[in-house]
Parts: sequence; structure tokens; C-alpha cells
Amino acid sequence: MNTPIWDFVTRYCEGDPLRLHMPGHKGRGPLGAEARDITEVPGADVLYPAAGIIRESEENAAALFGTARTLYSAEGSSLCIRAMLYLALLGRAPSARRPVVLAARNAHRAFLTGAALLDLDVAWLWPDPSSGYLSCPVDAGALDRALTALPEPPVAVYLTSPDYLGNLADLPALSAVCRRRGVLLLVDNAHGAYLKFLPKSLHPMDLGADLCCDSAHKTLPVLTGGAYLHIAESVPAHIARQAEPALALFASTSPSYLILQSLDLANRTLVEGFRERLADFAGQTAELKDRLARQGWQLSGAEPMKLTLLPKSRGYTGAELETLLRARGISCEYADPDCTVCMLTPDVDPAGLDRLEAALADLPPKAPIGTRPPPLTRPEQALSVRAALLSPQEDCAAGDSVGRILAMPTVSCPPAVPILAAGERIDKAAAALFDYYGVTRCLVTAEQ
Ligand SMILES: Cc1ncc(COP(=O)(O)O)c(C=O)c1O
Repeated sequence: MNTPIWDFVTRYCEGDPLRLHMPGHKGRGPLGAEARDITEVPGADVLYPAAGIIRESEENAAALFGTARTLYSAEGSSLCIRAMLYLALLGRAPSARRPVVLAARNAHRAFLTGAALLDLDVAWLWPDPSSGYLSCPVDAGALDRALTALPEPPVAVYLTSPDYLGNLADLPALSAVCRRRGVLLLVDNAHGAYLKFLPKSLHPMDLGADLCCDSAHKTLPVLTGGAYLHIAESVPAHIARQAEPALALFASTSPSYLILQSLDLANRTLVEGFRERLADFAGQTAELKDRLARQGWQLSGAEPMKLTLLPKSRGYTGAELETLLRARGISCEYADPDCTVCMLTPDVDPAGLDRLEAALADLPPKAPIGTRPPPLTRPEQALSVRAALLSPQEDCAAGDSVGRILAMPTVSCPPAVPILAAGERIDKAAAALFDYYGVTRCLVTAEQ
């Protein structure tokens, strides 16, 4: 597989031109990466719309993922999520009603900011209360009933799979409902770019998604910020045609060529042995998970490359376990009172899994911790997502926040299902959750 962006920049650097264009570092600096950090000079193409080397590289990615079209983002899945929502809105039949997107409650805040910017209302697909805040399982029957309950079809169904803790949605069943109902299915697959390359693909584009974003940087060997927006054949042509304008609507006009080169090189890496390395590493990880389970560690989530430990059964909170692992030179992705999340890829140091296993074996089991997260509650929607997110905001001590309206969700707390979305009133139950998750301050809408 060729690497047209990387090759262009190599030739450009070899030509050693006098750089009288951006960026200001002129190709020199302390990072060592400055020489390759170019801008949209002649021959380098532009990102939106791409017609030269970037387009060629995107076509390589589309061939790898088996999509009708794959577009690059140098600004993460966050950018792609906004573009997906805009595209869904474009496909809407004329109506006097306000547009609604039907979304599983475990959505990332980029979804909320996108809905706010596009003036979309959100109808939530709630999980069963027994699943709490640690996962958001939605079954096909519940989706079907939620669609029936809406006064008119939503602009799209929006699912997050995998989520931060490694839970996978039943996409084949859920996409079948969307297809039958003629509703677009958008999937936030920020955590699952690699799913395409497992021996049996679990990638949303192979399981029925119409539009899907992947944060290549989260699970593939790609620099932070590199992401894909995938478009399926099933997307009507008049919507698919607007994908680049949709990205351009929200994107910077100065895309990072370091990130674009990284996405470009990843195409070659992915065809040159990645599948084999992933299959081998997934096997080792599955064996590790089995051994840990036999030793009494409680694990969560079916995603193969995520190791989510629920260590209270061994007498440790998630945060304590994270600290103990850090003291042993192991740096995890996330921890909260209930869980510790490790993100794995075949690029983990070959001895890495052994180190992790040895570090866990070094921690003696203690009396189980019985505390559980407070049960899932449904807060009152006091303002629309847009009204809340776009209103003046105030920083407020969590302890003083009861009765106020949340303006901006806290970053990732808890990571699967947010305590509150923008526009929802903070009640006593939410305040108890803030306390449980150690949230001490929150952003609320300003009182006039
Ligand atoms: C579920 C989910 N969706 C979307 C995003 C945003 O992705 P990015 O950081 O690539 O913009 C994240 C980031 O952590 C995420 O966890």
C-alpha cells in the first residue's frame, strides 16, 4: 500500500526549500518533528475537500475498512461526531417539529456539544436501571419501542460502542431495527478502530452502521488527534456528498500534517502484519483475562483489547489499584471508585502483559469492599441541551449545586453513563453521585 502523504513530505524535506510559509518554526525546533510539520503548500493537497495526495491516502483507508468512503480528521472523533450529526440533519424530511436524535445515554460530551451547535434535541435511550452507571445496554426491543414512542422519526439513532469501559452494543440487532425503520444509524466507535482487524471483524461498519467515527489514535499506531469518518454504501448519495463540507464546517483550516502523515503510514502498517500481530496479542490478552478471572479478579466488558478491572471484590477501589499500579511503573488509562481501565494494543511492550500480571499478583486479596455506585436515576430536563450549553456558565461547588442546571457535563465521570447531561437539573441523587465520584466542582447555567 502506498503512502502518498508521507512520500510528499519526504521529498519536500529533501528539497530543503526556504520556508516562507506557515508554520512559524520553519521546520526547525526542539521537538525534532518540526521539519515534517508542513502546511497546505502546492502539491500537499488540502484536507477538505481533498483531491490529491490526501484523497489518495483516504482511498487507501477506505479500501482497508471496506467502506464507500473514509475521510480523515486531524481533530479526533470529536470533529467526526459533529459532522455525523450535521449529515443526519441534512437527510431529514421537511417537518414543522424540532429535529430529534435518539441516543443511547452513554454518549461522550462531543455528542452533546454537536447537538447544541446544530440545535438538535436529544431523546435518550436509557439502560435498564439495574445496569447502573457502568454500562448502557440497549436491546433491539427497547430501541424499537423508543422509536415508536417518538411523534416522528428521529434524524438518526446514535450509539456509542465500545464505550470507555469496553462494553460492546449488540450492533447487528440494533442496526436491523434502524434499517427496518429507515432511520440512519450513527456509531461512535472512538474506542474501536482496531475492531476491523480482528480475525472476525467486530467493526461497526461491518455490523450495520451507516456512519461511524473511529479515533485511530486511541487503538491504532496513530498520533493523537488522527481519526476516521466512515460512510457506508447505504447512506443516500445526497448526504454522502456533503461529508467533506460537514467536516469543514467544524474543523480548523490548519490541519496537522504530522497527524495526516501518521494516518497515511498507518494504512501501510495495517496491511503489513498488523492483523497477525493483533490476532496473536488478542489471544495472549484473552488468556491473561482468563487467568486473572481464575485468580479472583472481576473483569468487565467484552471488548478484546480493553482490560477493565472491578477490584472492589479484591478489597481495592479502582483508584487505589491505579495508584498501586502506577507505583509499580504501570500507567493506566482511567480509574474511578469501581474500576481501573487498561487499554492494550499489539504495540504494548512484549513483556508488558507479564509485568501487569506480576504487579496484580503482588497485591494480596483483602476483604471485599461492599459499596456500590448509587442507582441510576433520570434527572429532570430543565433546559434543552443547546440552551444550557450556549448559556453563560458559572463554576459551582458540587455541594452547593442542588437545584441548579448543569451547563457542561464533567469530562468523564463516570465514564460509561454520565451523571447528568447538559440542561438537566442537579438533584440530590446527582449530588450524591458527584460525591461518590469525587466531583467537587461543576459548571452550571448562570442565574440571571
Ligand atoms: C466514547 C468517546 N467518544 C468520543 C471521544 C472523542 O474522541 P477524540 O478524543 O478522538 O476526539 C472520546 C474520547 O475519549 C470517547 O471516549
